[in-house]
Amino acid sequence: MEIYRNPAYYEIAFSFFDVKKQVNTFELIVKEFSKIKVKRFLDVACGPSLQLRELAKRGYEAVGLDSSPQMLRYLSRKAKEEGLRIDTVQADMSNFRLEKKVDFTFIMMGSLVFGSNEDFIDHLDSVACSIKKGGLYFIQNKIVDWTRIAEQSWTMEKDGVVVKTTYSFTFWKDLLNQVYRERGVLEIDDHGQTKKLVSEEDLKLIFPQEFKALVKLQGKFEFVGWWEGNESTWFLDKPLEKAKTLSNINMVLLRKK
Ligand SMILES: C[S@@+](CC[C@H](N)C(=O)[O-])C[C@H]1O[C@@H](n2cnc3c(N)ncnc32)[C@H](O)[C@@H]1O
Repeated sequence: MEIYRNPAYYEIAFSFFDVKKQVNTFELIVKEFSKIKVKRFLDVACGPSLQLRELAKRGYEAVGLDSSPQMLRYLSRKAKEEGLRIDTVQADMSNFRLEKKVDFTFIMMGSLVFGSNEDFIDHLDSVACSIKKGGLYFIQNKIVDWTRIAEQSWTMEKDGVVVKTTYSFTFWKDLLNQVYRERGVLEIDDHGQTKKLVSEEDLKLIFPQEFKALVKLQGKFEFVGWWEGNESTWFLDKPLEKAKTLSNINMVLLRKK
């Protein structure tokens, strides 16, 4: 995945949220829904994880898991520069175990995507083995409106580097298995030098009720709920069941049984 091999450009492209507000909401959600005290956080598919950096600043223990060595090296370098301790684990999110269990797990930016339902179940098994009983699994941006998948474009600028990002649905690859091809493009202007990074991935759409059924089938989490949100916060007074228009900017909450 060319985009994930270039963490510095990725971070510019995907820093359009207020991380302090996000972490404030994590703390609020812990108070409201966690059955355990929370000290140790895991970010799955962490990338450059502004969230772990903010959590570590607030004194929490922070663990980042990603399959990309470039992303993890970048995160470790940033943590060192910022004087923070963040542990990293290079692993596939459908096949991992942690040495020490965490109290709260999160996955951001629509990263909860898999090639098959089996991979999703294996992922839930991996998270279940890595989180304490009563701990929360927070999922940002689950696709719930499949008529509007992956059609987004935006531009960000930082220190003279401009990055235009476009994600698009390209075609259904396998209707029977609900698999589609997603294409992501970063068009970069780095002080006059232009670059284009392209990544394509075949992803299985997990429909909302299928998602709930798979969570039930896997058996180790209870479905707490799902709510509307924006890029920086989530609205606990707006459950998706009451939404007039469904949005793929949302949060889903599971709790380890
Ligand atoms: C959309 S980015 C999200 C990064 C970060 N969490 C954020 O919010 O900006 C997805 C991340 O997932 C990682 N990734 C993709 N497939 C993965 C897998 N199977 N296991 C672990 N990490 C994976 C990529 O390397 C990338 O860092």
